[in-house]
Amino acid sequence: MRTPFICGNWKMFKKREEARDFALKFRELYQNKSIKTAIFAPFTDLETLVEMFKGTGIMVGAQNVHYEKEGAFTGEVSIGMLEDLAVDYCIIGHSERREYFGETDETVNLKLKALLNSKILPLVCVGESLETRESGKEKEFVKNQVELAFKEISKEDAVKVTIAYEPIWAIGTGKTATKEEANDMCTLIRSTLAELYDKETSDKMIIQYGGSVKPENASDIMNMPEIDGALVGGASLEPLKFIEIVNF
Ligand code: PGA
Repeated sequence: MRTPFICGNWKMFKKREEARDFALKFRELYQNKSIKTAIFAPFTDLETLVEMFKGTGIMVGAQNVHYEKEGAFTGEVSIGMLEDLAVDYCIIGHSERREYFGETDETVNLKLKALLNSKILPLVCVGESLETRESGKEKEFVKNQVELAFKEISKEDAVKVTIAYEPIWAIGTGKTATKEEANDMCTLIRSTLAELYDKETSDKMIIQYGGSVKPENASDIMNMPEIDGALVGGASLEPLKFIEIVNF
């Protein structure tokens, strides 16, 4: 049995005070401990959230990290720095990082390897653009992203990775993939993992859907057999909305 995993991705929202207010409310509301949850916050909020969620089971993640241990990389944050804050997770390869900040399949793979050598668990995002979907090449595209992300990763390490399928055309647009479209792509991702490793390994891995998940569509999505969780942007900013999704 795979435990459902529902994550909030705050992107570039919330100052520390706002993060603290959210955490105060959300930790009161979070009762359903059979569902795992994490908030992926800006770097400046991580320390506050780790402190506020201590002992609650709610996990905290960063939205990006550098793969080198340290060095002359102005503006970057290392895995060691995140470990120092006792952060649990880190997103890599979010489509906004790929589109605006030069993240590539190669850097995703380097970051994945580096995180798997640390105490921080990776969440890898994949997903096609509208153009790719309209050209009918979306399956080939996502399969290739998964293969490149997992290049030279052992199966013992692979099971620690969460994958989020986020079609770019559904992110922040209010346009959700249908539950069948989302489930189909999660099925393809799982079969790609079974080819790379084996069925037993791929059956254990958590695959989320992301892109305009909200309280109104969360249960439809979460009840699909191959979808194990959700990565939620906009609707994770308000505790009352996000808890409804967590309690789908
Ligand atoms: P959204 O964002 O829920 O606002 O569409 C999802 C994401 O980018 O992770």
